[in-house]
Amino acid sequence: MAIQAALLGYGVVGSGVAEVLAENAAGIARNAGQPIELKYILCRSDRPGDPFSGRIVHDFSVIEADPEVEIVAECIGGSGMALEYVRRCLLAGKHVVTSNKELVASYGHELLAIAREKNVNFLFEGSVGGGIPIIRPITQCLTANELDEVYGIINGTTNYILTQMIVEGASFADALADAQRLGYAEADPTADIEGVDAGRKICILADLCFGRHISPELVRMRGISGVNARDVKYSRRVGYKIKLLGRALRTGPNTVTAYVEPHLISIRSLLSNVDGVMNGIVVRGNALGECMFYGAGAGKRPTASAVVADMIDCAKHRDARMYLNWDAPEPGHFTGPDDLISRWYVRTGASLAAVGGAFGNVRLINRESDPPDEYAFLSAPMSGHALRNCSRGMDIRSAFRVLD
Ligand code: HSE
Repeated sequence: MAIQAALLGYGVVGSGVAEVLAENAAGIARNAGQPIELKYILCRSDRPGDPFSGRIVHDFSVIEADPEVEIVAECIGGSGMALEYVRRCLLAGKHVVTSNKELVASYGHELLAIAREKNVNFLFEGSVGGGIPIIRPITQCLTANELDEVYGIINGTTNYILTQMIVEGASFADALADAQRLGYAEADPTADIEGVDAGRKICILADLCFGRHISPELVRMRGISGVNARDVKYSRRVGYKIKLLGRALRTGPNTVTAYVEPHLISIRSLLSNVDGVMNGIVVRGNALGECMFYGAGAGKRPTASAVVADMIDCAKHRDARMYLNWDAPEPGHFTGPDDLISRWYVRTGASLAAVGGAFGNVRLINRESDPPDEYAFLSAPMSGHALRNCSRGMDIRSAFRVLD
């Protein structure tokens, strides 16, 4: 007897899920203990000629009301219709899987509570890092640890754009167009470029690592639009690469912080070699030390790989819940990142005397054919508040944290 499933949404990820289910049907049946049959695909259009067009329905309630459908994969995206449909599927007693980070970051704890009440699973391995296993390692393999920090490159589009610009000399516009064509970018790529997508993902990782919901609205998200080609050159001269990182860490016994910003990371670090659409995520635990997860962070089939694996787990746990949970938000749990101490890379139009007066001893970066009115330097370790105080009234063109 096959287990019946439905897909909500038939875009990049949805069509990938249908493809992988069909292509790997035999192995999936072996791993799930029974075949997984795609009974319905919810899609606005009829898609004549599509190999799965016979399963397309336009009315969500057909899926909701069919008791044969036990597993639903949400591939619509966003938190409008997707939120309503996921709630209704869980309430109808169906297992739900998704790669929708917007939904999980903002409503994960509520949806997990419904799943718990209904004794079904709500799984979202594909919501962070595309095809990279990261949710299960955090919630299963690393649970003996007190996790202190999680950080990494968690947006494939911006990493692809930065790599194309740095390595291939591509323009920002061309690199973005490529990322869209390859299915990496969000429907509105501003969410990628401005760090919002990475911000949602770091919230999910922080929720899982630290056990309490962090609202994406609290998290400072800075993307790559402020990264200049000269920043890339100055950084390279002192042995660093610029990468957009999401980072979350404990700041006290009951407090955590999270943020997204471009960082300078050493060219000797593993993370600095995570290029193109690849993602790299480092988790630090008190027993394990550091552990890095690497792989394809976006795209149709890598994301489908994680979504289908969740469907297989639902089939294997038809009558049991996989433990996945975090607590409701609590005032005072989240603190801003400005207290964190780090060195800073600064590019400025101020005079050397002004730099010395404000920042004291700094490591000046060698100048080559750079504009005569500009200096770049690495500061001594200081907090974000101190950086702002030192910079007051100065012409600061870029300032990025250095991850030492
Ligand atoms: N737009 C996202 C990215 C897709 O580029 O990483 C995967 O979450």
